[in-house]
Amino acid sequence: MSHTAPESPEALEIRDPRTGATYRAPLRTEGPEGDTYIRAADLRAVRRDPAEFGTLSYDPAFMNTASCRSSITFIDGDQGILRYRGYPIEQLAEQATFLEVAYLLRHGELPTQPQYDTWVHDITYHTYVHENIRKFLEGFRYDAHPMSMLCSATAALSSFYPQARDIHDPQQRYISIIRLLAKLPTIAAFAYRHVKGLPFIYPDNDLTYVENFLSMVARMSEPKYEANPVFVKALEVLFILHADHEQNCSTSAVRAVGSSHVDPFSAVAAGIAALFGPLHGGANEAVLRMITEIGHPKHIPAFIEAVKSGKGEQRLMGFGHRVYKSYDPRARIVKKLADEVFAQVGMDKDLEIALELERIALSDDYFIARKLYPNVDFYTGLIYRSMAFPTDFFTVLFAVARVAGWLAQWEEMILDKEQKIARPRQVYVGPGKRDYTDALAEKFPRARKDSIRK
Ligand code: CMC
Repeated sequence: MSHTAPESPEALEIRDPRTGATYRAPLRTEGPEGDTYIRAADLRAVRRDPAEFGTLSYDPAFMNTASCRSSITFIDGDQGILRYRGYPIEQLAEQATFLEVAYLLRHGELPTQPQYDTWVHDITYHTYVHENIRKFLEGFRYDAHPMSMLCSATAALSSFYPQARDIHDPQQRYISIIRLLAKLPTIAAFAYRHVKGLPFIYPDNDLTYVENFLSMVARMSEPKYEANPVFVKALEVLFILHADHEQNCSTSAVRAVGSSHVDPFSAVAAGIAALFGPLHGGANEAVLRMITEIGHPKHIPAFIEAVKSGKGEQRLMGFGHRVYKSYDPRARIVKKLADEVFAQVGMDKDLEIALELERIALSDDYFIARKLYPNVDFYTGLIYRSMAFPTDFFTVLFAVARVAGWLAQWEEMILDKEQKIARPRQVYVGPGKRDYTDALAEKFPRARKDSIRK
């Protein structure tokens, strides 16, 4: 992708009151939805004197900054729209497989049958990991968080494939993408088995991607693992829903770290670290912990009051989104999926609490006024738990799916001629220049200062 921004005859006029000068910042409109932007670099011209750096745009948490131009995922937060490469998430969740979606994200088009067969074959035959990765995982404590294990083992993979550092070679990029998609489920399943104290189950190449993953997680003494088809379908859909979400925290981490031209294993490890946080991928885990803490539907009103009063900085986990301000389209699909899964495994007390929480929150002014709706994580955790996944494994499942998006975004960034090493600016608000010796002499008597220095 080496597109350049379109030129535009229209421009914002900026008048600098300090000098009286007027500047033009070209106003660019691009893409099927007509996204409009100015280049932050155009603000640099606004300065009092040519020696000055120029005017910065200040945007903590990048609330209004586009860090790239991307063709992968489209989100309209106000209308609750999510599309991968133009295809609505609802259609993909209904009709596609996860590997088809991974192909779509990376290549930009759905595969033909021969393309799909090659893609699936290549991924299937790279699922094994080096035995030393297995030993590396065995070195973790019995109670290690599986995200820590996944993150470190993914970073460790980089040392097994030094050729992957040649990120400008398309063949190397392809094989690294295949390896990451293939091996992450294996590492994730090994992490699961390690924590449980169970022997590791090696990949079964006769199974589909999702079936094989479930086999590595759950197989015991049976010669061939047969997964529950309702669970296979649920996981396939959940993987599709989590596959990409444009420039979220972990994807931005992968892009920022990858922009240093490090290998993709290291860049993806950075994405996994970002996903670990409770405000991002850790939210599905946090939802279940919150529900367990509430314990009974009768405690919900007090809990909601605590959230509203901000006591203990309590949040209703699984609600709210930086981008979606009407509803999260993934949440609607997950809710339907949850109905299917719970029809089979039965409804429990936690689901009752979740339904009641949702009902109260959707009718409460606090949540309505702030446009807080259930996000993808609200019901995801309940589905995972009904499939017998432990709570701290939920974010691992998110990572196994999101790697498809991280890799597509990473490669798009590498091929984008406009991208450089990510290096934001800052507005410095610390002290001006001051002298070191004077300050120390005031704080410590001479003898004490000499002893500190030794
Ligand atoms: N519960 C209660 N109040 C909330 C919540 C919540 N879940 N989310 C936001 N608010 C309030 C917040 O206190 C603030 O109120 P006020 O204006 O009175 O100060 C207002 O809503 C705006 O909040 P914000 O923090 O400025 O919103 P944000 O866009 O920065 O945060 C968020 C987005 C997802 C971090 C946040 O909604 C949140 O913490 N939600 C709970 C965690 C969660 O479910 N995360 C999963 C996100 S979806 C999966 C993913 O993409 O990773």
